[in-house]
Amino acid sequence: MTELSTEHRPAGVLVTGGAGFIGANFLLRMVPLYPNVHFVNLDALTYAGNLMNLREVQHSGNYTFVHGSITDPALVRSLFAQYHFTSVVHFAAESHVDRSIRSPLGFVQTNINGTVALLEEARAAWRSAMSSPNQVRFVHVSTDEVFGSLGHEGVFRPDTPYAPRSPYSASKAAADHFVRAYANTYGLPAVISNCSNNYGPFQFPEKLIPLTILRALNRQQVPVYGTGANIRDWLHVHDHCAALDLILHKGRIGDTYLIGGASELTNLALVRMLLTLVDEALDQPEGTSLDLITFVADRPGHDFRYAVDASRIRRELAWHPSYSIERGLRATIAWYLSNRDWLDAVADQSYRNYLNEQYSL
Ligand code: NAD
Ligand code: TYD
Repeated sequence: MTELSTEHRPAGVLVTGGAGFIGANFLLRMVPLYPNVHFVNLDALTYAGNLMNLREVQHSGNYTFVHGSITDPALVRSLFAQYHFTSVVHFAAESHVDRSIRSPLGFVQTNINGTVALLEEARAAWRSAMSSPNQVRFVHVSTDEVFGSLGHEGVFRPDTPYAPRSPYSASKAAADHFVRAYANTYGLPAVISNCSNNYGPFQFPEKLIPLTILRALNRQQVPVYGTGANIRDWLHVHDHCAALDLILHKGRIGDTYLIGGASELTNLALVRMLLTLVDEALDQPEGTSLDLITFVADRPGHDFRYAVDASRIRRELAWHPSYSIERGLRATIAWYLSNRDWLDAVADQSYRNYLNEQYSL
C-alpha cells in the first residue's frame, strides 16, 4: 500500500493524549514552531495526563485543550466538525507494561477500542478528502514492542512479523492492525511509527528512568527486575518528536517508520550509569547511589531485548538522533533537578488539580 507522497501541510491537528509524556513534548515543540497551525489536544487526563506539562503553551492562540476521551464518538465528531482537522497525531493510550499485566482490560478499551473509534470518526469526516493525496493524514504513534522480543542478535525491521507478548504490546499491535486495515480498506491516509523506549522531561515516574532518578534523589531503593540483563534501546523524547514532525509532513502514506536511538544497554548498565550521573549532578562521591540498586522479582513474560533498524527514516526523511545516551541522561537528570515543583506535584498527586485551576469544566 506504499505510494510516493509530496508534503502534507497541516492546518488543524488533532493531537490525542497530548497531556502525557510524549504528546506534551510534541506539543511543546510544535505549537511555537508552527504558529499558523491550530493544535487541539484531546486528553482524558488519566493518571498519566498532566496539564502542568503544557504550561508553556497553554495560553498560545494556536493551542486548545479539550478534556475528553477518544472513546467518545460524539465528542470526537463534534471536534472534527468544529475544527476541520487536516491531521491526527494519535498518542492517547495506556502505556505502562506493568499496569497492563495487572489489569489488561483498560488497555483493550483505550488502545484498541479507542483507536478504532477515532479511526471511524476520521473516516467519516474525511470521506471526501481521502482521495486527494496529502490533504489529510492520520499519524499513529506506536511502539517497537509490537514485534515481540529479540535474543542477543538481530533487530526489528519494518517487515518483521508482529509477535506481541504483553497485554500492552498486544493492544498496541491490535491498534496498528486496525490503522492498516483502515488504510487498506477505506483508503485512510495513515502512517505508523514504531519507536523504541523514550526518556526525557515530563515522563511519569513509573517508567524505569524517571523512577530511578526520583528514587535516587529520595535515597530510596531502585528496583531492578530479575538480574537486570534485559536490553532496551533508548531514545530521547525530543528526537522522537523531531521524527514525528517529519513523518507528519513528509512521511510516505501507508508506510511504517521504525524509530530508535541505537543506544542499547542492559537495564543494569543503564541504572548504574544513571545513578553515577545523579551522584555527579548532586556533587556526591561517585558510587554513593549505587548501593540503592535492589534486585526484585522479574516481570512476568519480560521481553528480553528490543532493537530497531531505523534506516528507513534516516534515509528517506534525513532523521537522526541528536542525543547520545550519556548527554540525554545528563539533560534529563538536570531537568528533574530543576523541576522539583513538577516532581513534587506528581508525588503528592496535586498535579491532578491543575485542570480545575486553569480550566472550568
Ligand atoms: P503516557 O502514558 O505518558 O500518556 C498517555 C496520555 O494519553 C495521557 O495524557 C492520558 O491522559 C491520555 N489518555 C489515556 N487514555 C485516553 C483516552 N481514552 N482518551 C484521551 N486521552 C487518553 O504515554 P506516553 O509515554 O506519552 O506514550 C504516548 C504514545 O506513544 C502511546 O501511544 C505509546 O504507546 C507510544 N509509545 C511510547 C513509548 C515510550 O517509551 N513511552 C515508546 C514508543 C511508543
Ligand atoms: P519500562 O520503563 O517500564 O519500559 P518497557 O517495559 O516499555 O520497556 O521498563 C524498561 C525496562 O526496565 C524493562 O526491561 C523493565 C525494567 N524495569 C526495572 O528493571 N525496574 C523498574 O522498576 C521498572 C519500572 C522497569
